[in-house]
Amino acid sequence: MDYVTDNADRACGGHATRVAMVTGGANGIGAAISQRLASEGFTVIVTDIDLEAAQHLAREITANGNRADPVRLDVSDAHSIGSVFAQLEGEYGRCDILVNNAGIAGVASFLDCPLELWLKVQAVNVTAPMLCGQRAARLMARNGWGRIINIASISGVRAGIGRTAYGTSKAALIGLTRQMAIELAESGITANCVAPGPIETPLTRDHHSAETRDAYRRSVPMRRYGQPSEIADTVVFLCSPGAAYITGHTVPVDGGFLAAGILDS
Ligand SMILES: NC(=O)c1ccc[n+]([C@@H]2O[C@H](COP(=O)([O-])OP(=O)(O)OC[C@H]3O[C@@H](n4cnc5c(N)ncnc54)[C@H](O)[C@@H]3O)[C@@H](O)[C@H]2O)c1
Repeated sequence: MDYVTDNADRACGGHATRVAMVTGGANGIGAAISQRLASEGFTVIVTDIDLEAAQHLAREITANGNRADPVRLDVSDAHSIGSVFAQLEGEYGRCDILVNNAGIAGVASFLDCPLELWLKVQAVNVTAPMLCGQRAARLMARNGWGRIINIASISGVRAGIGRTAYGTSKAALIGLTRQMAIELAESGITANCVAPGPIETPLTRDHHSAETRDAYRRSVPMRRYGQPSEIADTVVFLCSPGAAYITGHTVPVDGGFLAAGILDS
């Protein structure tokens, strides 16, 4: 795909190293996104709280002839976000794509949601995308081109039992994306959300009980969980020249969940 769109690329004849940073990029959906962006020719900064997993994935990517750089980043630590972006700026001098993928769940009903859980989930799922977005957008603005993709959830669009902290954080992320979109549009930066439905990853393996899995199968018209690659494909589309005029939107990748009403007659 032709990503030669920005001033820096034009200046060096379209051969600039384009850099994509993925948070929580070592496992699950983030790993699929890292792999896809690398196969599109981006140097992928695979950041994750789990450095070993990031290193493992980066080795896999480079073994396939593509480029990846593993970096430890706990996105709930604002200071680390600052250091990692300073390192990225020093090493590459640019950031073309940011995927705010790192996210945590945590099930608690509205009445019983502990403050600690609430704050932790908001820190990782909302505050971190805001801080990473600020740092990345400053670098993107220099070249007049950038793509920010925030991984939200269907839980940010529809309420679900037990999702007080998680669902609210994803709804806030959708709002943050609109805010980024309108304020960054004139700098050539688009910001969009992808809202996955249930996807087969370590997160759902650990957090979805047999009852939850049955409930999803009943309420997803396609009657299946999605695959991480199906989210990665959408991310790549939103970064592609074909999506240049799309900004501020949320694309559900959910097997029809958000379109559905009564499914069983
Ligand atoms: N799996 C699903 O069904 C589903 C559905 C909707 C939305 N999502 C969203 O997609 C994103 C990825 O989900 P997943 O299922 O692949 O999750 P996962 O738990 O399988 O992987 C998340 C990755 O993020 C990393 N991570 C966790 N906390 C971190 C932190 N503080 N700093 C940096 N990295 C951290 C983990 O080490 C892991 O590599 C999340 O934002 C999640 O909310 C997932």
